[in-house]
Amino acid sequence: MVTETLFTNISQLVTPAPGVQRGAAMRDLTVIPDAAMLVSGGVIRWVGPRTDAPGIAQEHDLGGVAVVPGLIDPHTHAVWAGDRLADFEARVQGVPYEEILARGGGIRSSMRATGAASVDELVALARPRLRALQDSGATTTEVKSGYGLDFDAELRMLHAVRTLQAEFGLVPTLLIHVPPTEGRAEYVQAVCRDLIPSVAREGLATAVDVFTEREAFTVDETRAILQAAKAHGLQTKLHADQFHAIGGTELACELGALSVDHLEASGPAQIAALAASNTVATILPGVTLHLGLPAAPGRALIDAGGAVAVGTDLNPGSSPVFSTQFALALAVRLCRLTPAEALTACTVNAAAALGLSDRGALAPGQRADFLALHSPDWRDLPYTLGANPVRQVFIGGTSV
Ligand code: NIG
Ligand code: FE
Repeated sequence: MVTETLFTNISQLVTPAPGVQRGAAMRDLTVIPDAAMLVSGGVIRWVGPRTDAPGIAQEHDLGGVAVVPGLIDPHTHAVWAGDRLADFEARVQGVPYEEILARGGGIRSSMRATGAASVDELVALARPRLRALQDSGATTTEVKSGYGLDFDAELRMLHAVRTLQAEFGLVPTLLIHVPPTEGRAEYVQAVCRDLIPSVAREGLATAVDVFTEREAFTVDETRAILQAAKAHGLQTKLHADQFHAIGGTELACELGALSVDHLEASGPAQIAALAASNTVATILPGVTLHLGLPAAPGRALIDAGGAVAVGTDLNPGSSPVFSTQFALALAVRLCRLTPAEALTACTVNAAAALGLSDRGALAPGQRADFLALHSPDWRDLPYTLGANPVRQVFIGGTSV
């Protein structure tokens, strides 16, 4: 027999509608005061005012606090070895991120350290980072490869993600991050001919991502990689417009990518392309804070009718942000999202950026992934900086 639990004593139950939300609809939250929620088999069966709740033997009193959907972090690089502390010191003294990368440091230094680590070492390094994201409210987290020096190292990263997948609700992505300094045409061919097919065959990733940028891959190289991904049944996404808008966003929209991520350098043409497409615009305000870059145009994207998601981009070089809630709170300050838009961006729209529609909202049929806050007012979630407003994290109706 499946046990049913009625969660009660919820000061406010707050949720966007299920499915991707665009433009002004991102602000349409449902707020039910003095609410209850019925869960069975890990799935939400009913939500509504406490007074209308069905009579259920097993009650779980949440203590008079607000409940929101579990957050979904749609963009992280949580698996890496080594550190970027020397880069950080150089950067704060004025050396640009791209210049460090062009000199063979930055991402390339993380590749050297990560390429030398075993799967077990990578798992041990990633676990506390993923625990920090989960404690901050992430009930589903995307994790990318991309620090592999060679294909074996890429596969080790994806095997580390697989080891941690069930524990943290991970969604794995193969990231083609930076080309080798010599033989880049052969490298792109081998990615398409060997790496993508073997990742698809082993089910090691659900999507392929490319860093499309002057210091990384060109638009033509990106097109070849994304077409190979699609030919092998994988979804696509892109790192684009981080420093320069070289056409990655337009390509992603044309190919029907799930999301384009970063967008700090996007202008009116890229905003219009995203607004006219089904591709989610994922903004990463931790990068703006850490690298001192311009903020992605979150406000303009929503005003144009786009669907915006927010992620941490947790990584050692551009965003050492170990809290999905903090990314949500930064999107309000740096990208001018309203608190309601930020909640939608971090729940149903982040799910859409991963191709998922079974989570992100508190509604019948959705996974029972939700957060009990410390506060009776949900707005403490976007408001709080530097402390954790999340008291308890539930995945499939169970406290983790
Ligand atoms: O999303 N921009 C490219 N990739 C990562 C940074 C990775 C790193 O610096 O290690 C990003 O910002
Ligand atoms: Fe990234």
